[in-house]
Amino acid sequence: MEKRQIKERIFWMGAIDWDRRLFDSLVPLPDGTTYNAYLIEGSEKTALLDAVDPAMANILMAQLHGTAKIDFIVCHHAEQDHSGAIPIVLERFPQAKVITTPRAKTLLLDHLHLAESSIVPVADGETLSLGDKTLRFVYTPWVHWPETMVTYLEEDRILFSCDFFGAHIASSDLYVTDQGRVYEAAKRYFGEIMMPFRKVIAKNLEKLACYAVDVIAPSHGQIYDKPEWILEAYRDWVLSPPDNLVVFPFVSMHGSTQAMVDHLTAALVARGIRVELFNLTVTDIGKLAMALVDAGTIIVGTPTVLTGPHPLAAYAAFLANALRPKAQYLSIVGSYGWGGKTVETLAGMIPNLKVEVLEPVLCKGMPDQAAFTALDRLADAIAQKHRESGFQ
Ligand code: FEO
Repeated sequence: MEKRQIKERIFWMGAIDWDRRLFDSLVPLPDGTTYNAYLIEGSEKTALLDAVDPAMANILMAQLHGTAKIDFIVCHHAEQDHSGAIPIVLERFPQAKVITTPRAKTLLLDHLHLAESSIVPVADGETLSLGDKTLRFVYTPWVHWPETMVTYLEEDRILFSCDFFGAHIASSDLYVTDQGRVYEAAKRYFGEIMMPFRKVIAKNLEKLACYAVDVIAPSHGQIYDKPEWILEAYRDWVLSPPDNLVVFPFVSMHGSTQAMVDHLTAALVARGIRVELFNLTVTDIGKLAMALVDAGTIIVGTPTVLTGPHPLAAYAAFLANALRPKAQYLSIVGSYGWGGKTVETLAGMIPNLKVEVLEPVLCKGMPDQAAFTALDRLADAIAQKHRESGFQ
């Protein structure tokens, strides 16, 4: 793909990674991704905003063929999918200065071993003139590492946001054409990497509210030429209370836990509560992260393996603890053969969750009527909590 013009002397650069299926050896990418960089040619100076994943540096370097000079490389975020090709760009343009936050400077030194003299830290709100185009740098920490910033191009009212507002979608579309598809990918992306930092992100949104933004150009996915909907989506994910929704990751070995999951799901639905079930033997962990964005209650369903939870259930609990969703209630259901400490083990794995733990239901062997009655009581308790909390 060649570079593509967005506006006069402003170009999309970068690479479309159609084949990538895993990020950070952790996050599923069902639709691939893009690594967007941007070239801005001012009347006096030229800036490259971000680079690409080093595996695709050859594509960016081919796009830069014919570019006589780069004065500045703006590094919004030190993670290697955006910064990893900077050393290669610097080999071609050794006079270029890397513009970044002080915190990113140390990360670039650590991760890329850049020459310290090539990095120029900028202050929050500082501007850089390219002649007839002005870049304003705004610190926006935790989107998605602590060092991140965005760039506002004042004359053209474009916000270059890097990971912020990004979505993992490989597409030849330069702009968002399928809003529903991008909404889902952006929400998945938010759930996977940004959800733990909601409070800081709320401050970032507030900080950016004073800028008139016509276009948001992220470094993953397509460009938003109608940015209001994605800003509103972020406000919803960050600020709105949870939904009247139970997110229910589970695993069953011999059918006992499955029977409990089925019964409790039906009981919750009968009480007007939405349920999203995730069988952990087949689930896409990104879908689970996305569902957790809205969950009012999390229930983990697990059999007992030896003396504790099934490892897949432990993984789901560990993930929820790391992602810190805004759910306010949690419970555990499942079965055991002869004993164990499943509840204690799982409860000890979620110290980050600010949740009230509702009475777990564990039964020995196949669930009997007493177990089903206990599950009905749990459904009643969840319905009451959701009503009292005003979840909708
Ligand atoms: Fe797209 Fe946090 O890197």
